[in-house]
Amino acid sequence: MKKDVIIVTGAASGVGRETALLLAKDGAKVVCADIDKEGLRELTETMRKRNLDAKTKVTDVGKPEEVEELVDFTVDTYKRLDGIFNNAGIRDGTHFDDVDPVRYHEHLATNQHSVFYGMHYAAKKMQELNTKNGRIVNTASIRSYFGAKKSFRYSAAKAAIVSMTMSAADALAKDGIRVNAVAPAFIDTGLLASVPQERRERLEKKHLRGRLLKAVEVAKVVRFLFSEDSIAVNGATLLVDDGFLAVH
Ligand SMILES: NC(=O)c1ccc[n+]([C@@H]2O[C@H](COP(=O)([O-])OP(=O)(O)OC[C@H]3O[C@@H](n4cnc5c(N)ncnc54)[C@H](O)[C@@H]3O)[C@@H](O)[C@H]2O)c1
Repeated sequence: MKKDVIIVTGAASGVGRETALLLAKDGAKVVCADIDKEGLRELTETMRKRNLDAKTKVTDVGKPEEVEELVDFTVDTYKRLDGIFNNAGIRDGTHFDDVDPVRYHEHLATNQHSVFYGMHYAAKKMQELNTKNGRIVNTASIRSYFGAKKSFRYSAAKAAIVSMTMSAADALAKDGIRVNAVAPAFIDTGLLASVPQERRERLEKKHLRGRLLKAVEVAKVVRFLFSEDSIAVNGATLLVDDGFLAVH
């Protein structure tokens, strides 16, 4: 991972934060992007204390012009780009009956279109720079594979990410860029903070270890997808679900 310059979105919390820390520890220069300015400030402080190399950029990944700026900022700063982790996302929880068609696209902008923006602008830049061994990793979900009445938008977005990952892998293979995704089960992060305790306990039991995943457990699989060890993995969405889908 040494010399690699990698953008991580949703870096202020959860999976993004743990991934940024792991990649930086491995020697990568990480550009940490998030909409949460205070979370990024705290991350910078943590990285500084651990002598890790990272920059931050406040970015709304649902806005293409901000994602383009993020990619430009990265290349202006480090003069190279080796990959992007399109990970930022928000929870759903709105029943199908209550989804407002006029605002439907807002959820998809953050949870789905953002992944296209990240892949598009990073790939264009890597093509321009003639990056060797470019890598893109996206965050899908086990919800890519099943629906729920209160997860209509979220599941739609996450299902699309599996498909987008396959098509982009095909399109970008000519440029030596690999595109993969992770599909985690339920992770103990801020995203689940508002889930009532009773539901949380039910979810815990659906994982074979009887507990939610830790963000760092997902981050380690993301690190694998950025590493040389995964050179033969392309267009894949790796389940990181502690058996959730195997038995439900
Ligand atoms: N927590 C889970 O159970 C779970 C399960 C499967 C998949 N995921 C996915 O994992 C990814 C990371 O989530 P997490 O669990 O670490 O949650 P998290 O809430 O801890 O982290 C998500 C981060 O994304 C940021 N973010 C939200 N909207 C943004 C925007 N418009 N622009 C930039 N940043 C934005 C948040 O500020 C936050 O820092 C998400 O894509 C999520 O859908 C989470």
